[in-house]
Amino acid sequence: MADWIELEKKYFMRTFKRMPVVLVRGQGARVWDELGNEYLDFTAGWGVNSLGHCHPAMVGAVMEQVKVLVQTSNQFYTVPQLQLAELLVENSCLDRVFICNSGVEATEGAVKLARRYGKLHLNNAYQVITAFESFHGRTLAMTAATGQRKFQEPYEPTPDGFVNVEYNSIEAIQRATTPQTCAVMLEPVQGEGGVNVPDDDYLRKVREWCDRTGILLILDEVQTGVGRLGTLFGYQQFDVEPDIMSLGKGLGGGFPIGAFLARERAAVFAPGEHGSTFGGNPLACAASRATLAFIIEDDTPNKAQRIGAYLVSELEKLKQKYPFIVEVRGRGLLLALQFDRDISDRVVKSCLERGLLLNPVKPAAVRFIPPLNISLKDVDEATGKLDAVLAEVV
Ligand SMILES: Cc1ncc(COP(=O)(O)O)c(C=O)c1O
Repeated sequence: MADWIELEKKYFMRTFKRMPVVLVRGQGARVWDELGNEYLDFTAGWGVNSLGHCHPAMVGAVMEQVKVLVQTSNQFYTVPQLQLAELLVENSCLDRVFICNSGVEATEGAVKLARRYGKLHLNNAYQVITAFESFHGRTLAMTAATGQRKFQEPYEPTPDGFVNVEYNSIEAIQRATTPQTCAVMLEPVQGEGGVNVPDDDYLRKVREWCDRTGILLILDEVQTGVGRLGTLFGYQQFDVEPDIMSLGKGLGGGFPIGAFLARERAAVFAPGEHGSTFGGNPLACAASRATLAFIIEDDTPNKAQRIGAYLVSELEKLKQKYPFIVEVRGRGLLLALQFDRDISDRVVKSCLERGLLLNPVKPAAVRFIPPLNISLKDVDEATGKLDAVLAEVV
């Protein structure tokens, strides 16, 4: 058997902190490594495998489409793209969509759209207010949008036009708003920043502020969208409607795709002002449409809500048992356990050895982002393994 880990060391750029397993197969909530070891996957490809690995709805659509038409270009119409567009618009509060290939392209596209709006309707305003501890992706501009110094510092100077302010503070947004501001961009719940849930009325206050000042509200739903928080979109949890929303991750059920949507009044791109070679290709769109249609028809978000509540109750029991657990937080199936010390790497490593995959989202917090259709039995198995690990870890 080839030593794949040695190949990675020799040939791959040193960007990822990987666990020492080579995954070769996935089915539902389970993955297997090259040695045949089985793991219960509570990382779901960082929140991507919304229906688990290789769900038949997604796989069937890909198998059919790959034989027929994979890529054209946006010089022409293709049917899966338009079917996906219809599904997204008819099931959201937004009116128009642009389809791209990843989450970061979606957020960057959303910001470009807001800047275009600023040029046309807000006297050339171009600045976007974002939050500390946010995560919006890894392009140069989205690194500036991401309110975490560690992502910005290696690449400074980062592009102009972003102001990072305290999350969950309407006053911070009000103070940062100037005649140059065209939009506020927020995650309904911060994912990579540690699963930070804002106060119930925060987004409503931000919405009111945007309405009062005329600036746009962009919600980055790359992580929270498509059922993750227990509703099809995260904004539904907080009783607000964005002007622009970005999507990615779970939208393709494992297939790479991103999208951003806008209300009619904010959908101001003119022909030629934005584009993509692969974005909206028939193969990705067929995968995404099948995934999204299944999620809507099956009412998967509601199931995620119920199973998430059960997972929270099991994690609360662990909190009662282990004094070094200080908080269980999150919504739906985007959850985190906060420790009072930096043990998440050790916890995640020990869980791996016991056949459970978790994500160390912060040095002192682990994140749970399993497939949305995970079973109660899988939750019991995961919390059982975690219990055994926590009993030994400190
Ligand atoms: C909220 C949010 N926005 C944008 C991104 C970037 O997505 P991608 O890495 O798929 O480009 C992420 C990725 O974690 C994210 O969580």
